[in-house]
Amino acid sequence: MKLNRPFKSVLFTGLACSLSVLPFPSLLQAQEAKIIKIKLDQPIAKVQPNMWGVFFEDINFGADGGIYAELIKNRSFEFAKPLMGWTVSRKRPQEGEVLVVNRKEENTTNPRYLQVSKLTDDFELINEGFKGIGVKKGVRYDFSVMYRQLEPGVKMVLLLKDPDQKIIGQGAVTFTGQGKDWQKQTASFVATETNPKAKFSILFQGKGKVDLDMISLFPGDTWKNRPQGLRADMVQLLADMKPGFIRFPGGCIVEGTDLANRYQWKNTIGPIEDRKLMINRWNTEFSYRSAPDYYQTFGLGFFEYFQLSEDIGADALPILNCGMACQFNTAEVVALDELGPYVQDALDLIEFANGDVNTTWGKKRAELGHPKPFNLKMMGVGNENWGVQYLERLAIFTKAIKAKYPDFKIINSSGTDPEGDRFNLLNTSLRANKADFIDEHYYRPADWFLKNAGRYDNYPRNESKVFVGEYAVHADKNHVGSNRNNWESALAAASLMTGLERNADVVQMASYAPLFAHIDGWQWAPDMIWVDNLNVYGTPDYYVQKLFSTNRGTDVVSITLDDKNITGQDGLYASSVLDKNKKELIIKIANNSNQHKAVDFALDGQTRLKSKGTLEELASSNLDQLNSFDQPKAVSPKLSAVALKGKKLNMDLKPYSFNVIRIPLN
Ligand code: AHR
Repeated sequence: MKLNRPFKSVLFTGLACSLSVLPFPSLLQAQEAKIIKIKLDQPIAKVQPNMWGVFFEDINFGADGGIYAELIKNRSFEFAKPLMGWTVSRKRPQEGEVLVVNRKEENTTNPRYLQVSKLTDDFELINEGFKGIGVKKGVRYDFSVMYRQLEPGVKMVLLLKDPDQKIIGQGAVTFTGQGKDWQKQTASFVATETNPKAKFSILFQGKGKVDLDMISLFPGDTWKNRPQGLRADMVQLLADMKPGFIRFPGGCIVEGTDLANRYQWKNTIGPIEDRKLMINRWNTEFSYRSAPDYYQTFGLGFFEYFQLSEDIGADALPILNCGMACQFNTAEVVALDELGPYVQDALDLIEFANGDVNTTWGKKRAELGHPKPFNLKMMGVGNENWGVQYLERLAIFTKAIKAKYPDFKIINSSGTDPEGDRFNLLNTSLRANKADFIDEHYYRPADWFLKNAGRYDNYPRNESKVFVGEYAVHADKNHVGSNRNNWESALAAASLMTGLERNADVVQMASYAPLFAHIDGWQWAPDMIWVDNLNVYGTPDYYVQKLFSTNRGTDVVSITLDDKNITGQDGLYASSVLDKNKKELIIKIANNSNQHKAVDFALDGQTRLKSKGTLEELASSNLDQLNSFDQPKAVSPKLSAVALKGKKLNMDLKPYSFNVIRIPLN
């Protein structure tokens, strides 16, 4: 993360011409077609099966309040303010009727619970949800609570209420048993109406005394119907992309503002009541977008990340803290001779993912329900860390990991920026150290992306590989929140991505960042997918990413204009791959100008092609065009047929368009 990033103006030079000055059709016809040559028979690089992936971080309420479908905020009363998110509504307040009790000697991970001593009138305990509670008519809601009944007699009525206080779902809980042992009670009920901003209320009736903890409510329609699982609509959008990998859990939350608040994967597995809650660093990071109610419950923990990756056929790519906290915040580092536990966490993670069920950590994985290994192949050490301190710590990690797992790949950080002194120091040193992968991050304006479409054309071919682990086009500051995901940004990203694909021998993985943002709770924009409590939509960036990952191919073939790579000549950017499995040629070409472009693809080589193919076209004449909850597919691929004449394909590329052409090989 870089605070106060410089934002250049990102207006295209062509933007000054509005649509009204587009050439007339007669002029278009007069325009001479560009001859674009594709050498079908000479693959120049392999495309890795996991080339295009996604970056997941719990930022913008992406996990808690987002994909992790828990609807109750502060379910275990462990926020700094123990009753944040809750209100008690009663006619006549009774002193001591609701108490927050702390048993930190007995339970260090989940010390607080609620004690209700019900003496007189009925009263309600209301939870506001994360940004309200999204309730869907006809869906089952699963309530659970941990309790111990000290004096019998308290009854709980469970109510979902819309903002007008109308009851739109109702259940009840009765307690059994008595004594000091915690028990679990569940209840399910079906909602009668849909509402995006409901609240959950517990109406206490009767008399008695009961302790309550882990008050939880999940929708029943989670991904794969897993109890206490993930929001199916959000996962589905990811699954539809067929991503090659999921990078998790960040991002800056890996580093933490200080070492005490770094991400520690071992705290995120096992029973959810034992996963120690922690402040989310995005709670306080940006004063103009602060989120005092943003915490990490780790309900989406490392086991669930591995499971999610497996579900959608993606490689897991965890990033671990390297013994350094965020250098923009505290820059706290662990002493070199105390790095041992950090390194051990990395080794144990590999064992947790891959180890035999008789190993300590492999056994834990099996106990969590997954005896089969997850087949973890790589991890990142450090997020956006830099400097000599990073190199020193990384060397210790690398030595230990490679000693035990020689083939395991390690992703190395190149800092926050794709150029400058910090980058140069790391890039040079890491290459000298024969790093497996160097993680480059770029959050830059559109013109930077366009200028860098040829960035990797001259990178060394046989050294460390590049992982573009975070990137996004940042529109100027007149664009705020979801408005930053406009077509101009997505098209510039697509243009640069043709350069990543062309250099797939060097750039072996890439992921746009960040992934998710809640429309009422974001801290960072742009983001690939926006959600509210009930809906989700993919931005134009989402469709660009999806087009690349679902049209990945297996082998890069050369595509040139006047014998040069196509990196912006006349506003065009292109790459081309063969898909040897499906036996198809795939051409990706962006027209980043405000004019139609006539192009003749000349397909050179012995390979024969069928005479018909398909075009998936992503286009808008309005560079500020957005997708939205109302118009989720305003910019989305349109499918049509294309016809070849022998080994030629003539096309008219729309202004501001990104085109993916697939031609079956004969
Ligand atoms: O993607 C948002 C942030 O950008 C990530 O947390 C960090 O790695 C980068 O600075």
